[in-house]
Amino acid sequence: DMGGHDTYMHKEIFEQADAVDRVLRGRIDDRFSTVHLGGLNLDAREARQIRRVKILGCGTSYHAGMIGAQMIEELARIPADAEPASEFRYRNAVVDPDTLYIAVSQSGETYDVLAAVQELKRKGARVLGVVNVVGSAIAREADGGIYVHAGPEVCVVSTKCFTNTCVAFALLALHLGRTRDLSVRDGKRIIEGLRRLPAQIAEILEQEEGIQKLSEQFADARSMLFIGRVRGYPVAREASLKLKEVSYIHAEAYPASELKHGPLALIEPALPTVAIVPDDDLLEKNRAAMEEIKARSGQIVAVAHQPQEKADHTIVVPKNEDELDPILMGIPLQLLAYHTAKALGRDIDKPRNLAKSVTVE
Ligand code: F6R
Repeated sequence: DMGGHDTYMHKEIFEQADAVDRVLRGRIDDRFSTVHLGGLNLDAREARQIRRVKILGCGTSYHAGMIGAQMIEELARIPADAEPASEFRYRNAVVDPDTLYIAVSQSGETYDVLAAVQELKRKGARVLGVVNVVGSAIAREADGGIYVHAGPEVCVVSTKCFTNTCVAFALLALHLGRTRDLSVRDGKRIIEGLRRLPAQIAEILEQEEGIQKLSEQFADARSMLFIGRVRGYPVAREASLKLKEVSYIHAEAYPASELKHGPLALIEPALPTVAIVPDDDLLEKNRAAMEEIKARSGQIVAVAHQPQEKADHTIVVPKNEDELDPILMGIPLQLLAYHTAKALGRDIDKPRNLAKSVTVE
């Protein structure tokens, strides 16, 4: 039942405020400015002994993991990074006993992720799952984890589960942070930010009409560039994947900082750029990148917290705490991908060549 929506993708995009409410529910501990994650199976002493975090996932789940790694570094000050599970499992990676491994998967059945988990467990590593489907293979195989409670996701392309996975990582980062050296004050700040998310998501979704108009302009683009730096970069990666999957328009994501090392050569009026421009300490750097593009007559859409002078159009999103901004900045770009695909008459819920869960090698 699509409840009045024309596709599951549209329905699931609009379910995100409620979905985020669910991942937060019952987990916030105001007394200690932290969160409780019942299924983690990681006591405080163990949490303090972690030396590194390695996050593994595929596709959209990998992108959520990139955001999660940044949150863990920022809030818990533990070195963290994300890698495609499909790469990790084939490179005879060094498995280190002081590293916490985290497998991310909506379905909990993606074979590359499951195989990485099994390989890690065989070598004695501790593996947590950040999974949507309860009781799935990866959830069962992991030593513990967090359910992201996005609810069933029917559309082949992931939207609400991406957002909820990012929120689940914020909870984990906060928990690890508060078990280590994150202050009560910062804990409170993040909790307040988390509580603002559902209303801010609803606010973003109210801008659908404007985003739809914008999408129609892009329907005839042959290619698009998505740029961001640090917190904005995984958002650019995910937005680029979403556009590719549902509209079949070629898109590439690049760190804004790397533009001058090559991709500037591509800039011309026919290659539109989407720039992720959070109002954080990199704002001026991002403005400079937009200036470089403008100087070469490239069209720019910015996703930002205030209208951007250098952009032809800005999608303004509400500001949260710096660390949580990436959760919100991708949401208007889900709508951009959806409406571009719709303008092109694509099969939105079942893009060609794709399956909801990839259970083969
Ligand atoms: C993106 C998409 C795929 C999946 C990937 C991992 O919209 O649908 O990239 O994200 O196949 O799937 P899960 O999260 O089920 O492991």
